[in-house]
Amino acid sequence: MNRLALGTAQFGQDYGIANSTGQTSRSEVKKVLELARLKGINTLDTAIAYGESESILGQIGVQDFNIISKLPELPTACSNIKKWMESQLNDSLKCLRLNSINSFLLHRPLQLLVPGNENLWATLLQFKTQGLVKKIGYSIYGPHELEQLWPQFKPDIIQAPYNIFDRRMEASGWFKRLKDEGVEIHGRSVFLQGLLLFNSKNRPQSFNPWSDHWQFWDRWLEQNQISPLQATLAFALANDQVNKVIVGVDHCVQLKEILNAANTAIKDFPEELIITDEQLINPSNWEHL
Ligand SMILES: NC(=O)c1ccc[n+]([C@@H]2O[C@H](COP(=O)([O-])OP(=O)(O)OC[C@H]3O[C@@H](n4cnc5c(N)ncnc54)[C@H](OP(=O)(O)O)[C@@H]3O)[C@@H](O)[C@H]2O)c1
Repeated sequence: MNRLALGTAQFGQDYGIANSTGQTSRSEVKKVLELARLKGINTLDTAIAYGESESILGQIGVQDFNIISKLPELPTACSNIKKWMESQLNDSLKCLRLNSINSFLLHRPLQLLVPGNENLWATLLQFKTQGLVKKIGYSIYGPHELEQLWPQFKPDIIQAPYNIFDRRMEASGWFKRLKDEGVEIHGRSVFLQGLLLFNSKNRPQSFNPWSDHWQFWDRWLEQNQISPLQATLAFALANDQVNKVIVGVDHCVQLKEILNAANTAIKDFPEELIITDEQLINPSNWEHL
């Protein structure tokens, strides 16, 4: 199971369209981490912006995991980028109770392109030289960001949305290109925040504008006698360009379900399931629904 990585946004804040119970309790996080450890999941994806996530992980103890964290958006009135970044990483390490982490990503990488922000990348490189992080890179929302960033900033690692509906990273050729260049690829939003896992009766009505698409999805699952969890996991894990598939859970039971569903072999994922409408595939647009 070590191609799975565990997302931790739910551990630090009340988050997620499919999350009916709010922020995951500390005792539940402990159970999730114990099960992950037992099943060979060795990577945790967190971020400074995920509320209490890093400090809860630190309190429980995560020395034996590879940790990926992310630098939040640069404040507008930041007079000393290098100093601010040093204090952000320092606080993050303190919360996590670690001396170094595996990867540090930019959460808002387009800020690299803003004149005057040259120290953003230079400071990430400095963190690597100092041994505070092994790999640097960025978290993106779509391939258009890579088009702009790649010419100047060569990351060790990229995190990007990838799921059975959203195959933009594949279709744009970026997954192949990154792989050829030796960049580590992590796919996230595999369940589209849990939206892909609702059955037709429970799916929030605000997503009715895509009813034709949902009908095709529901019928395809029914015809193949597979659950949405099996289908979404099989899709992401079938792509060997993707080094890690990040999955989010609200409870330990969901991690158990994921582990049970992860070995389903499905070969054919029809192209009719693909959708490029960013109103659906980018959760940051859902507020308007
Ligand atoms: N059997 C089940 O019913 C079952 C099983 C497993 C999972 N689930 C559901 O699926 C959910 C996990 O879905 P997932 O793995 O696709 O992805 P996810 O955990 O929702 O995370 C996907 C990405 O969303 C972004 N995000 C984090 N905090 C956010 C916020 N406050 N607002 C908007 N976006 C935010 C993060 O990326 P950025 O930080 O880069 O923005 C994160 O990496 C679980 O929480 C659970 O509800 C259900």
